[in-house]
Amino acid sequence: MDEVIRSLTEAYGPSGFEDPVRSLLRSMVAPLADEVRITPLGSLVAVRRGTGNGRRMMLAAHMDEIGVMVTYVDEKGFLRFTPIGGVSPLTCVGARVRFENGVLGVIGVEKREDPHKVPSFEQLYIDVGATGREDCPVRVGDAAVFERPFVAQGRRLVAKAMDDRIGCAVLVETLTRLGPTPHEVYFVFSVQEETTLSGARTAAYGIEPDMAIAVDVTRTGDTPESQPMAVELGKGPAIKVQDAGMIAHPAVREWLMRAAETAGIPYQMEVLERGTTDASAVQLVRAGIPSGCLSIPCRYIHTPSEMVDREDVEGAVRLLLQALEGSSQESVTRNASR
Ligand code: CO
Ligand code: ZN
Repeated sequence: MDEVIRSLTEAYGPSGFEDPVRSLLRSMVAPLADEVRITPLGSLVAVRRGTGNGRRMMLAAHMDEIGVMVTYVDEKGFLRFTPIGGVSPLTCVGARVRFENGVLGVIGVEKREDPHKVPSFEQLYIDVGATGREDCPVRVGDAAVFERPFVAQGRRLVAKAMDDRIGCAVLVETLTRLGPTPHEVYFVFSVQEETTLSGARTAAYGIEPDMAIAVDVTRTGDTPESQPMAVELGKGPAIKVQDAGMIAHPAVREWLMRAAETAGIPYQMEVLERGTTDASAVQLVRAGIPSGCLSIPCRYIHTPSEMVDREDVEGAVRLLLQALEGSSQESVTRNASR
């Protein structure tokens, strides 16, 4: 699975500019799915038909990542930029960014009165080696992503864009290993989660699933002086109870917990006080779709070095396989109000 994770995390795909990562994902899922399609907004959908008598299940992982967008090119060829999604200026100074055309940029910072203070985005610029507007290889509106290689070190995996290429990798691996299931399973690789959640929202409208699960990262509380949180790296995938955008539907939560317990997979309960996922948008589609999340614990989210644990990733795949293969229609909806 390492090579899948490496290629996915190193791929280019900031929100709204997902073409390269979508092509890569399409090449991975096309041989495995009964049908592959792209929604009008650009999300990739791979369908695995069920053996009948099941439900329509949607699994969603977002393929977009945070990044930066050029807002202005000055007369000396330096670029001003705005964040795409939740980028912090803390992680910017000295960082390298890569544009879709391959151009590399270095983020620099202006002279400031107090050099120990975190700079604002207005004080930062990108240097692509140009000397003026004429020889600048990128233009206003071009987007770039942070540049970092994938590294596997023991159980830990470090890369940019683990949020949420690790969710994409979990979906690809689940589709690869999925045996006969009664359910019709829609694997959705959504666009624009980091900005508007619009990819998953519109994909869900088209699919009209009976139930939806977002597979995304969640933060942990296990680093020095961290804000307290009960999720730790390496203790298993986390089943979401609540985040800032939603309360997970109890039927989804319990379905995932039963699958973990049946298969003997360690798991954690997640209550996330800030941030949300595609599931918060999906649950509001049409008359409402029971939705939940399976989360991969991740340290340093929205920095260029996001860290996950290999066993948590494997546990997430096994949990989804158990949930999809081991459940009938009535066990899925046993506690659902619909
Ligand atoms: Co994110
Ligand atoms: Zn995410």
